[in-house]
Amino acid sequence: MDVRLNSNLEWQTVANSTLTKKRSTAYGSTVALKSAMAASGAILVLYLIAHMYGNLKVFSGQAAFDGYAHSLREIGYPLLPESGFLWIFRIVLLASILIHIYAAVTLWARARRARPADQRYQVKKRVVRSYSSYTMRWGGVLIALFVIFHILHLTVNVIAPGGRSDSPYERLVNGFQPEFWYVTLFYVLAVIALGFHLRHGVWSGLATLGVNQARRQPVLNSIATGIALIVTVGFLIPPVAVTFGLVS
Ligand code: HEM
Repeated sequence: MDVRLNSNLEWQTVANSTLTKKRSTAYGSTVALKSAMAASGAILVLYLIAHMYGNLKVFSGQAAFDGYAHSLREIGYPLLPESGFLWIFRIVLLASILIHIYAAVTLWARARRARPADQRYQVKKRVVRSYSSYTMRWGGVLIALFVIFHILHLTVNVIAPGGRSDSPYERLVNGFQPEFWYVTLFYVLAVIALGFHLRHGVWSGLATLGVNQARRQPVLNSIATGIALIVTVGFLIPPVAVTFGLVS
């Protein structure tokens, strides 16, 4: 009897420790995924701020805008070949996008597995949760589709509703003419989706970095809302200005 009890206890201890190990490994990799998501997100946010600022040069005229686009290709030259830095930068950007999407999909699948169909959440919590995960997930898909369209439109210029051009300024001005209002509308919707994505993303990224103690919550909210607003409005101005004839 004593022997059986002992072996049962031993078995339970081994089973418990395996479970604890499994849980802590899962927890560890969840933390790693969230950190990867925050780090790649931070690179993308910095890129967006720089890109948004660069786009505003459209108000300084064609020479300034094209000169700026050209100077990006000259960074590091002659140490690096022409456009060398730009390509390194593009690889970092693409890697960040892929890491960001991979971490998002893995975390989402894990959360789904941990939460079976017969939900145990209170209704209120579930509503809040599904609102943010819904906007993040579908907003993310829309942004990804937008980026593919956008590169084909303004970088590669194979989609060129207003005519093709070697000048980035002309590509921009041609692409948002009033008769292509639907292109502008698509940009507006995608940039608004980006704004919502950024607000929640910056907020949870800062939370992952451990900045979300209760007393810092209002600051955290203001930073997330501020960045989202600046990026959204900054990106919206050039296409809307072209469509309304303020830049030509
Ligand atoms: C809504 C206003 C926007 C305008 C007017 C705009 C304008 C441009 C232009 C003119 C280029 C080509 C630059 C060149 O060839 O030198 C470009 C490239 C690009 N844009 Fe945008 N952009 C906008 C929004 C966005 C947004 C919201 C994103 C990301 C979510 C984005 C991501 C990119 C990327 C990844 C490239 C390719 C950069 C490269 O050459 O490697 N853009 N954009």
